[in-house]
Amino acid sequence: MPNNNMPDLSTPILEVTDIEKHYPLGRGLIGSLLSQPEQIVRALDGVSFSIKNGEILGLVGESGSGKSTTALSVLGLTTPTKGTITFDGENVIEALKGSKRLAFRRKMQMIFQDPYEALNPRQTIYQIVSEPLEVHNITRDKTEKRERVIEALSQAGLKPPENFFDRYPDELSGGQRQRVVIAAALILRPQLLVADEPVSMLDVSIRAEILNLLRQLRDDHGISILYITHDLATAGFFTDRIAVMYLGRIVEIGTTVDILQHPKHPYTRALISVIPAPNPRNRRERVILQGEIPNPTNIPSGCRFHPRCPVAIDDCRKIDPQLLPIAGVHQTACIRADEKLPDKT
Ligand SMILES: Nc1ncnc2c1ncn2[C@@H]1O[C@H](COP(=O)(O)OP(=O)(O)OP(=O)(O)O)[C@@H](O)[C@H]1O
Ligand SMILES: [Mg+2]
Repeated sequence: MPNNNMPDLSTPILEVTDIEKHYPLGRGLIGSLLSQPEQIVRALDGVSFSIKNGEILGLVGESGSGKSTTALSVLGLTTPTKGTITFDGENVIEALKGSKRLAFRRKMQMIFQDPYEALNPRQTIYQIVSEPLEVHNITRDKTEKRERVIEALSQAGLKPPENFFDRYPDELSGGQRQRVVIAAALILRPQLLVADEPVSMLDVSIRAEILNLLRQLRDDHGISILYITHDLATAGFFTDRIAVMYLGRIVEIGTTVDILQHPKHPYTRALISVIPAPNPRNRRERVILQGEIPNPTNIPSGCRFHPRCPVAIDDCRKIDPQLLPIAGVHQTACIRADEKLPDKT
């Protein structure tokens, strides 16, 4: 693994191009009798982004915006209805069908939300962390296994590693358990970690600790991270770039500074307005969005955000805005992006 403090941000390791994931729900008996059209959940409706080597990208949005569906697609655990995903130069779906699928799979690892559910309570920490070596046919040699377990536990900040070998998950704190989950991913020496709400189940006091650990892994080993969260505040603290999702689309993407300091999309602005500001004088007026994220079987016409948008105009009902550049890598999908909108939006 490369060991440089300046990650190479020039080469994309992951490229997601225009993916859609549609779940047909069927018509049901009444629908069939009335010849109604089949209902389709548009969980992802044209999502594109890339992650560079050693980059941390945040994917932020409300519940139901399609974050986990994106994660599952990236990992090849669900097949998009349309679009392509390329990881380390290979099409993910094809690579996972091929003879080298195990070697390919180990390059991308998932960190789950719930460290209580992710760990088998009947296995020791040594068994849990060493198991991927067996599953991936990496080694059965005892000494090598032990060295790799020590390395992974140390990288995950569980020190001294030997003290954890014979312990069981229920003897550990939530933060320590999440470190074990991270160690079990690191033992495969992945190039990308997909972390879906990795700290939301943890005590607030240890969230920053775990995110700092993940960032350290990026700094020390150049690991790229896709960080999924509904919480723009932790994304702001932890990521290099942020993509904001709404109802199956990315509506704004840019550097973390672009998104937090110069948000253009009214949805992003609303999310930022409810982050508690450390200095109350800098607090923006809170924008409380009306209603909930609509049902993805019935996506609003024009801009999908218009029914909840505080600055929607007539055209927003008709025009489906595409992601367009603002400046540099900053892009947003709003027909009013160039206007100076009132501060409370
Ligand atoms: N297997 C499925 N069948 C039908 N609909 C699904 C399926 N999986 C997800 N969906 C729907 O797709 C939409 C996106 O779901 P997804 O889990 O990706 O959202 P999310 O952003 O991760 O939400 P959360 O923050 O609650 O985890 C939701 O409306 C969800 O109900
Ligand atoms: Mg989710």
